[in-house]
Amino acid sequence: QTNYEFILTETKGRVGIVTLNRRKALNALSTPLMTELNAALKVFDKDENIGAMVITGSEKAFAAGADIKEMSKLNFVDNFKNNFIEDWTGVTKIRKPIIAAVNGFALGGGCELAMMCDIIYAGEGATFGQPEIKLGIIPGAGGTQRLTQAVGKAKAMHLNLTGDFISAAEAEKAGLVAKIYPADQLVAEAIKNAEKIASYSLPSVLMAKELVNKSFELPLSEGLHLERRLFHSLFATEDQKEGMNAFAEKRAPNFKHK
Ligand code: CAA
Repeated sequence: QTNYEFILTETKGRVGIVTLNRRKALNALSTPLMTELNAALKVFDKDENIGAMVITGSEKAFAAGADIKEMSKLNFVDNFKNNFIEDWTGVTKIRKPIIAAVNGFALGGGCELAMMCDIIYAGEGATFGQPEIKLGIIPGAGGTQRLTQAVGKAKAMHLNLTGDFISAAEAEKAGLVAKIYPADQLVAEAIKNAEKIASYSLPSVLMAKELVNKSFELPLSEGLHLERRLFHSLFATEDQKEGMNAFAEKRAPNFKHK
């Protein structure tokens, strides 16, 4: 597709790929870019030929944050009236899994965008941080909340209050990043993992994603209850029979629900 100005989209097999494409501005997340990103993800989410998505940036920057030049003109009343940043959370409404493949800077809104995705894979040279404090503001898209859930209070406080950056290795050790790959192999590896996810039975994939996310919202007993109910429900699918028969017959499953 070529009708986007700030992103590139392509498909590989059953994977939809969005590449943030404001290279000169280190993929600063302007409102028009976020509008396009959310639109593209929605299209992939509805597309029967897509089972998982990858969001990536350039070698130098996944995204260096919300667009500071755009924000410098904003004022409280307009932000409040227009609910600035709220639209960004469209990413979290997508039902199919989204992988963030992070090379270079993932700062401020860039780190927050990565955290809105379901899995973060990082290139060896990736850098994460919430430097908003240096601008006289605080994160507005999850930097104080999702980061704390991912890495715990000690590191979240350090990152939010000092604005310091951490490396891919530190981010992996802290639990923010699932896996690290050599920078030049990162996107291909992310796509490979997305292809694997997209090969499974879609209802089970959607339920697994939804349940992990629910674990942050629900008390444990409610989360476990919902998990048990949805677990039961998957036995109504043909793919459960297919998956288990294929195991017994020592062959690859041929899932129908994609
Ligand atoms: N917004 C707008 N433009 C940005 C940007 C941003 N967040 N980050 C980088 N750019 C622009 C620079 O202004 C520069 O543009 P020009 O060439 O026109 O001057 C270009 O991208 C290249 O950047 P640098 O020359 O600064 O590159 P560098 O390699 O020297 O430094 C960097 C890289 C450390 C990432 C530095 O660019 C930087 O600190 N960027 C800002 C990071 C930041 O503060 N992010 C948080 C934003 S606030 C936020 O995100 C709020 C929220 O929670 C939603």
